[in-house]
Amino acid sequence: MLTQAIRRVGNTDRLANAMMSTEDRLKDLRVRKAQVEAGGGQARVDAQHKRGKMTARERLDTLLDEGSFQEMDTLVEHRCRDFNMDKNIIPGDGVVTGHGTIDGRQVFVFSQDFTVYGGSLGEMHGLKICKVLDMALKTGRPVIGLNDSGGARIQEGVASLGSYAEIFFRNVRASGVVPQISVIMGPCAGGAVYSPAITDFVIMVDKTAHMFITGPEVIKTVTNEDVSFEDLGGAGTHGSKSGVSHFTSECDEDALLLARDLFGMLPNNNLERPASKKTNDPVNRICEKLDSIIPNDPSKPYDVKDVITEILDDGGFLEVQEAWAGNIVIGFGHLAGQTVGVVANQPKMLAGCLDIDASDKAARFIRFCDAFNIPIITLEDVPGFLPGTNQEWGGIIRHGAKLLYAYAEATVPKLTVILRKAYGGAYDVMSSKHIRGDYNVAWPAAELAVMGAEGAVQIIHRRRLAGARDPEGERSRLIEDFEETFANPYKAAALGYLDDVIEPSETRNRLCKALEMLLDKEELRPARKHGNIPL
Ligand code: HXC
Repeated sequence: MLTQAIRRVGNTDRLANAMMSTEDRLKDLRVRKAQVEAGGGQARVDAQHKRGKMTARERLDTLLDEGSFQEMDTLVEHRCRDFNMDKNIIPGDGVVTGHGTIDGRQVFVFSQDFTVYGGSLGEMHGLKICKVLDMALKTGRPVIGLNDSGGARIQEGVASLGSYAEIFFRNVRASGVVPQISVIMGPCAGGAVYSPAITDFVIMVDKTAHMFITGPEVIKTVTNEDVSFEDLGGAGTHGSKSGVSHFTSECDEDALLLARDLFGMLPNNNLERPASKKTNDPVNRICEKLDSIIPNDPSKPYDVKDVITEILDDGGFLEVQEAWAGNIVIGFGHLAGQTVGVVANQPKMLAGCLDIDASDKAARFIRFCDAFNIPIITLEDVPGFLPGTNQEWGGIIRHGAKLLYAYAEATVPKLTVILRKAYGGAYDVMSSKHIRGDYNVAWPAAELAVMGAEGAVQIIHRRRLAGARDPEGERSRLIEDFEETFANPYKAAALGYLDDVIEPSETRNRLCKALEMLLDKEELRPARKHGNIPL
């Protein structure tokens, strides 16, 4: 029925059109628009709902401020003539594009319509997305893409692949200029995954979103592995194993509301700062809880998220990649109303050691914050890099170097609080003064040393211990001596490597004041085409 109706409109001849009354022209336009809005027809819309998924337009209605959506390229059609596609034209071509507002701020959007050719991306579908990306770059506004697609439209062959590449090119060109957020709300297969992968944040809907390069059937053929869609590329997998996704949501609505919250933390582009957020939380609020949060035994863990929420405005913290590489915690919050990015070692997991995944996770986040003028708060409690052959053979040297590179390259305000351990190379890496931390302080329990006391004594006093009459007693005395000399923040403070040693309870106050002082900071690096981060 729908196809016939479309053909009828398509056949309206020029003469008939010229003879139309104004009223008829309006009717004709409305019929055309109604056809676009019907997407792939009621049966496919019902199937979409049955799977717990919203339609492309319902999603945009939830994402954007009410009535703000302005559609572009409504009447675009594909121009494929193979496989009888000329008899199967659905205007709009399976993607709804345009712009609207979130909390009054402009944003460009596209929303793939799975009811039209399975949301597959043909030439014109792709070019609609390209137009949105071009407009976003021209106007300096973020882009949010809602992905629900069977991938490259098979009937359109290389024209479809060409449009994908046009999108990838634009994603790269916009990277670091306007924030880009991808919400995966259905299949996202094959090369199609590379557009979301290039964007800054990926939100996946649990159970309905799947991302993979090759599906379960191909994997079975090539490697003889049995794997389900969910285990291979579901939200759980990408949120906890691969690190591809940054957030997991339970349903479409949650994902879209999360995208709104995330958008609210970010600036429009790389020339602006995020808008400040009003708060009644006093800057000088004393955080008494922090005075006793560090256990007396330095080998005992605590939850660094308790420190983060205590310090930030109103305890608000939007954690990024919560279920992946939990030994480092990253996310956004506000300090005195300003958006900040937080990077914190988590003593509750792997004692807060830096490993391959933690380095990758934090490095990418730091680079995002730096690109978009978001100050970085580092809360440090790190005993070093994780030892082990799988780390060494997996390239911890290369991955750890990314973190060092990202911190050293960043020119946004960098504020560091050493809560407890700052050992070895990890001391240098975690936004130390030497790689241009702007404000570096420590709590009194901080230990800044090349390594922990036990390891150090074992190495520098090996001979003395071997010859001692009471080796264990001697070891304890030497450890105590080492701790007294090095396991404190005062040597570093005396060298000016720390700007101060502060009481934990005054951390919020001190950070807010330092941030205020640093907000207009300017720091330049030598002009170059680009650096060569060890990828
Ligand atoms: C054209 C497609 C399509 C595609 C789905 N459809 N994928 N049409 N090109 N790639 C159509 C179906 O024919 C069907 O049309 C409708 O969409 C819904 O598909 P179903 O299979 O009925 O839905 P479902 O059972 O939910 O399965 C969804 C699916 C499956 C998992 C996405 O359709 C599928 O595996 N599609 C192929 C995925 C794929 O291999 N894509 C190419 C990847 S390679 P009707 O008319 O019946 O409703 C790639 C390269 C990109 O993308 C390169 C970039 C560098």
